[in-house]
Amino acid sequence: MSETPEGRRDVKNHLLFEISTEVANRVGGIYSVIKSKSPITTAEYGERYCLIGPLNRTSVRSQTPSRSSSPFYRSFPVPCSPPPPYWHPYPPKEATHYPLSRPLCPPASPLISDYDVLTQAAVEVEALEPTNPALKATLDAMSDRGIQWLYGRWLIDGAPRVLLFDTGTGYKHLDEWKGDLWSTAGIPCPPGDGETNEAVVFGYLVAWFLGEFVSHEQSRAVIAHFHEWLAGVALPLCRKRRIDVTTIFTTHATLLGRYLCAGSVDFYNNLQYFDVDAEAGKRGIYHRYCIERAATHSCDVFTTVSHITAYESEHLLKRKPDGVLPNGLNVVKFSAMHEFQNLHAQSKEKIHDFIRGHFYGHNDFDLENTLYFFTAGRYEYRNKGVDMFIESLARLNHRLKISGSKTTVVAFIIMPAQTHSLTVEALKGQAVIKALRDTVDNIEKGIGKRLFERALRWHDGEQVPAEKDLMSNQEKVMLKRRVYALKRNSLPPIVTHNMVRDGIDDQADPILNQIRRVQLFNHPSDRVKIIFHPEFLNSSNPVLSLDYDDFVRGTHLGVFASYYEPWGYTPAECTVMGVPSITTNLSGFGCYMEELIENASDYGIYIVDRRMKGVDDSVNQLCQFMYDFTVKSRRQRINQRNRTERLSDLLDWKRMGMEYVKARQLALRRAYPGSFDSKEPFPFFDGTEQKVSRPLSAPGSPRDRSGMMTPGDFPSLQEGMEGLNTDDYVSWRLPEEEDPDDYHFPLTLR
Ligand code: UDP
Ligand code: G6P
Ligand code: GLC
Repeated sequence: MSETPEGRRDVKNHLLFEISTEVANRVGGIYSVIKSKSPITTAEYGERYCLIGPLNRTSVRSQTPSRSSSPFYRSFPVPCSPPPPYWHPYPPKEATHYPLSRPLCPPASPLISDYDVLTQAAVEVEALEPTNPALKATLDAMSDRGIQWLYGRWLIDGAPRVLLFDTGTGYKHLDEWKGDLWSTAGIPCPPGDGETNEAVVFGYLVAWFLGEFVSHEQSRAVIAHFHEWLAGVALPLCRKRRIDVTTIFTTHATLLGRYLCAGSVDFYNNLQYFDVDAEAGKRGIYHRYCIERAATHSCDVFTTVSHITAYESEHLLKRKPDGVLPNGLNVVKFSAMHEFQNLHAQSKEKIHDFIRGHFYGHNDFDLENTLYFFTAGRYEYRNKGVDMFIESLARLNHRLKISGSKTTVVAFIIMPAQTHSLTVEALKGQAVIKALRDTVDNIEKGIGKRLFERALRWHDGEQVPAEKDLMSNQEKVMLKRRVYALKRNSLPPIVTHNMVRDGIDDQADPILNQIRRVQLFNHPSDRVKIIFHPEFLNSSNPVLSLDYDDFVRGTHLGVFASYYEPWGYTPAECTVMGVPSITTNLSGFGCYMEELIENASDYGIYIVDRRMKGVDDSVNQLCQFMYDFTVKSRRQRINQRNRTERLSDLLDWKRMGMEYVKARQLALRRAYPGSFDSKEPFPFFDGTEQKVSRPLSAPGSPRDRSGMMTPGDFPSLQEGMEGLNTDDYVSWRLPEEEDPDDYHFPLTLR
């Protein structure tokens, strides 16, 4: 459109703002959505794309938000009723309190304080001067009224523009805005809810920004795409103030869903019967629920991340989503296929190093015959299926023992919780092993030098130097000291940090209590060992010095037994890294893969049935999957990893991102119907064909369905797009041969 007639906006060159509290602020999966999607969105929009978030000045421990420190740490549903007694296959024993974490550590060790200083935004965002005239005028106007912000380039792949509002500078208006929210949208905001206050201030700042911006930018259409209720306050405001933007709201879960599932309700069988207002009221989240529901009903296009959450939203938020926007990943292909296998071996070696330290004095199992399983995510004990994971591990331990297996499974639980510091034991373990290694290295060098000198001086008829004479007395003493330092009177600890929960120590922690109940105490006879790392991983951590991705690569199996999981990035991330994983048919990702692949387990995607089976049967199924995995040979594991990695094309944003494109089209068409020529073909799609290579070693194959629908094909996303057939934009088939160059993504909007 070269000219913009009165009342119309240029929809082809529209601008896109994407708004979330997880912009440059790692909390959970929404951060992963925004960050991993950035390369394709910036490729499509260039500088017409800008992310908006709050400026999180709170000190975050590298990428680890703690619930107390980050105002945008999503609500943690507290109720976690203990699992029913029939869960345990063995005779019940007295629940003993076993000191899983070791005595309290002295105040923060200097080793850990140096990565506790910078905000993520400060590290990740490079400040820029706004050059776009409308943006500059808007931000200047807001600055004049005392609002501070940071505009710049987010230093991630795609380098998108970001605008971060310092919500602290808007608090002077909090009371006025709360009053306005009540009178314009009927949303109450009780005092004392810091998280809601943040959401209100952020929402009002965003609505202010958008209103001002479109008064300066009058020719091009503007799409504002909001993620999750925390960013949703601006939606009813945009509607009430008739701000000339078109809006999309994507919910990545529902508040009530999260809370209800964290309790002990039969959620999925009762979805249509919940009295939503009453349930929200009982849990003290009525006002938050109102924000979520207002956002849902005031946006032009309402979407969610999976069918299961779409169904839930329809019942709990009372609006049927217009479409499903499944989450993708930024898949990085290696030039050589085996490269990711090499990375597995390298990262596994680093995990071995950690294990040697953690189990010092108890390194009585063979690392060559050890498998690393793990679960990870925000600490939602029941929702993330940690209860089921631990129970299944206990059963697996039992099975491995009775079958006389020589395999050891080390199961990691990576979930941030409130902690003081790393334990002395965890630090000591790494220190004694490092000292031993340094000493052995020195001895080795000394022996080599002496051996060389003696060999030089050797004469005919003399004994060839023997290595036993080559160690000096001093070296023998050093080695003895290092070996004695490995003595330990206690079992290797379960937890790496000193935990605090509700002001008391680890006795109230549901994960530790479940471990106590099933008595997995890292005993030498246990074939399953457990390590609970209550902090997200980071390579600057002195104990487990690996970034999350590297850690995942080094493991053998991810286990995500979620009960409530709208999508579930963690198993998807495993898949693209070629690590098999277990998920459930209550997670968006699990359902998506089940729909797409006939024989998913051959591809390293195991799906536990938590819909049709009783709890005990699901636990047994999970245990069986893990047991079957332990009996695989190395060759079988390598083959399976190859097959898993080949599925990554299915999860690539280049494929998944099409749903976002469709949602934006629908938003434009709904808000600016007059700007579209009804006969004009849909401009964004040009018949791309996606190909997924057939795993050569696979016994079966993913479903071969030409013109298969993607999860986003809810009928209404097609509304107003007559003439557009699903086959026009996604056609997925299995080619006979892999041809990576075949890929072509339409970027008609440059
Ligand atoms: N994650 C992380 N560091 C860790 C463990 C997990 O960054 O040590 C990330 C992981 O990469 C994933 C996210 O946390 O992207 C969890 O997202 P998911 O969708 O699985 O769950 P959510 O927390 O959003 O409910
Ligand atoms: C990769 C490496 C191999 C290594 C194997 C170990 O495939 O390329 O060199 O032997 O990993 O696999 P495992 O499943 O035993 O960790
Ligand atoms: C939410 C969900 C998670 C999903 C993520 C990204 O936090 O809990 O399942 O993967 O959002 O959509």
